[in-house]
Amino acid sequence: MSLFDQPRRPRRLRNSALLRASVRQNVLFQNDLIMPVFLTHVDGTKREIPSMPGIFNHGLDTVPAEIDAILEAGIDKVILFGVPEHKDAEGSDTWHDDGIIQRGVRLLKERWPELYVITDVCFCEYTSHGHCGVLDEHGALLNDPTLVNLQRQAVSHASAGADMVAPSGMIDGMIGAMRAALDEAGHETTPIMSYAVKYASAFYGPFRDAVDSAPTSGDRKTYQMDPANSRDALVEAELDYEQGADILMVKPALSYMDVIRAVAERFDVPIAAYNVSGEYAMVKAAAQRGWIDGDAVARELLVSMKRAGADLILSYHARDLGPSLPNKG
Ligand code: PBG
Repeated sequence: MSLFDQPRRPRRLRNSALLRASVRQNVLFQNDLIMPVFLTHVDGTKREIPSMPGIFNHGLDTVPAEIDAILEAGIDKVILFGVPEHKDAEGSDTWHDDGIIQRGVRLLKERWPELYVITDVCFCEYTSHGHCGVLDEHGALLNDPTLVNLQRQAVSHASAGADMVAPSGMIDGMIGAMRAALDEAGHETTPIMSYAVKYASAFYGPFRDAVDSAPTSGDRKTYQMDPANSRDALVEAELDYEQGADILMVKPALSYMDVIRAVAERFDVPIAAYNVSGEYAMVKAAAQRGWIDGDAVARELLVSMKRAGADLILSYHARDLGPSLPNKG
């Protein structure tokens, strides 16, 4: 074979933008994205999170401008996180009708019925010790008492008007417990997106600054997964799938593309990937120095998550990228 007879099939398909678009396998849509929003009980607050440029902690009176901007960018789904007025050992603010999330959901659903509102269901932002549930006297997480509180929290969110609930605490049995409680309270149609595969990750650092939820002692390695493992990801996903999870999430996303792929191949439900705070912070930090084109890098990262198998992506980039993306219509 001479030098000039080498096969060059793929490159022939890259010669024009028209052809490249025609053979493109994955497209990032506005509809794929869910924008996280941080709510605090302190009115008048609009505090930029230092490690997350462009992301703010909002009071209920300053959040409307942010919601308008999100909708204008073509993003129609948000997930709410709360910074409560008071923390206690159980995180009781999470199930009070006048808790920050409940008030936030009511405000958003009244004013923007077209906005899809998801709530993060967890305790770490609301407990004085910063862990994701109730602790025993040695500081170990008590699984089953936490389940009962999760049921109260999920029902309270749904009753306030949440369109979907997303438990993020990696508590064993959380999906079955929440599904039963929601059904019993008449919320049979409220879907559950499970943070099914959640790693004990250093990438959550900026988020914990944002909501002041770092554990005051110990860490979350007894309930979140070891980053070195992939086998238990499938076990965790299977359990949540069996208990009725409507969507399975993998978190974080970037260093876990193989896990996204494995879960997507195994389960016939939509897969979500959480492009977490530390992943966002890295892109922003490099972009601010002019070392990378931040938006281009963000788009590349997010479409890679789709290529790996994600249907939905929770990302702090959503509002900024929205205007440059197509809509599924
Ligand atoms: C728990 C929760 C966390 C995140 C989402 N839900 C924090 C944690 O597990 O410590 C992290 C999200 C991010 O880093 O962007 N309520």
